[in-house]
Amino acid sequence: MEFQLNINGEQRTLEAEPGTPLLWVIRDTLELTGTKFGCGVAACGACTVHLNGTPVRACSTPIENAQEGELVTIEGLDDPVATAVQEAWREKDVVQCGYCQSGQIMSAVGLLRQTPAPTEAQIDSYMAGNVCRCATYVRVKDAIKLAAQKLEG
Ligand code: FES
Ligand code: FES
Repeated sequence: MEFQLNINGEQRTLEAEPGTPLLWVIRDTLELTGTKFGCGVAACGACTVHLNGTPVRACSTPIENAQEGELVTIEGLDDPVATAVQEAWREKDVVQCGYCQSGQIMSAVGLLRQTPAPTEAQIDSYMAGNVCRCATYVRVKDAIKLAAQKLEG
């Protein structure tokens, strides 16, 4: 079946079976491999993308759900919040193996768009679904706080 997706500002037409998870389409068909496969059951956050500005788990979102919306992957993040997060990530040297980090950044951007000056508890709660096997959690939190400061200034 033919689907139309608006992804990273481009209109794309592709063939997929109904019910295909967005993650397969993003990685295998559109070859945007910054979005990662971790658990496949919405339990790790590695596959997080934005649908209409809100973080969603691409492994558990059928392609039909994205047809009318605007999808953004890590490759397409481009606004002041995303820039502040990316700078903060570099300054805090957050990344270890890197596997979870696209998802961490997509969630962090979602958090700061919704709550520009989050408390520790709000960061913990919002980021709870993003798992890191390298345990970069403290640096992730520090980077989110730094990004919030950058956006304030
Ligand atoms: S791969 Fe989607 S949440 Fe883990
Ligand atoms: S940096 Fe390795 S899984 Fe998070």
